[in-house]
Amino acid sequence: MKLTLHVWRQPDAGTDGRFVTYVADDVSPDMSFLEMLDVVNDGLATDGQDPIAFDSDCREGICGTCGFVINGIAHGPERATTVCQLHMRHFKDGDELTLEPWRAKAFTPLKDLIVDRQAFDQIIQRGGFISASTGSAPEANSTPVPKEISDDAMDSAACIGCGACVAACPNAAAMLFTGAKVSHLGLLPQGQPERWDRALKMVETMDAQGFGHCTNAAECTDACPKEIPIEVIARMNRDYIQSTLRGPSAKVTGGGGP
Ligand code: SF4
Ligand code: FES
Repeated sequence: MKLTLHVWRQPDAGTDGRFVTYVADDVSPDMSFLEMLDVVNDGLATDGQDPIAFDSDCREGICGTCGFVINGIAHGPERATTVCQLHMRHFKDGDELTLEPWRAKAFTPLKDLIVDRQAFDQIIQRGGFISASTGSAPEANSTPVPKEISDDAMDSAACIGCGACVAACPNAAAMLFTGAKVSHLGLLPQGQPERWDRALKMVETMDAQGFGHCTNAAECTDACPKEIPIEVIARMNRDYIQSTLRGPSAKVTGGGGP
């Protein structure tokens, strides 16, 4: 396959970016999208040009490091697929593809297709933990969790923190991401001691980092490679309201639950 790539090139946050066109020859349908870019970069390096900067780590769809926009779609055209797991067989000979970084006020451009997602780290630091005692692991069945609750918590825990939800949202909101983190721990009995503090602090930090607000466009859940359901936003809003009514230091008693 032969593809034409229009790639956003930007040396740093302080310099204007622009699209630069490259031709990718001899693209195998078995390559991943990132492997195709590796080959393009080999060619650029051989010619003494600056390779295209993009993030990746696991290349297995589990770490959340990769991500950029392909033809206007975060992570590209395949549903529930990170760009590292996107294969070239989903494209055809002669395709023209436009590659851009996540665009959001809270994500500072670093270089080319890489943005700084430290704003997510700030949100996690305010509530992405539980206060379980350290020591040997407790017996797994000593804290019973209803199947339905553990399934919902597990679904939320699947969030890999990639940022596609922010990139896809017309308001650059991080509510799917934050809602997933609040749900993941807030549903489980082990997450109850900080439940209201967690919702309050994570939402406050999300706002302080410059993310927008949800207007129910639901673009986030469509773009999410882990198909995090939009219900996590409603759950986060409920916990946030509860935290403001009860006071942030109010303790939750009893088991977890929606
Ligand atoms: S909610 Fe989905 S799109 Fe957003 S950061 Fe988590 S995995 Fe990525
Ligand atoms: S590189 Fe880890 S999810 Fe894509």
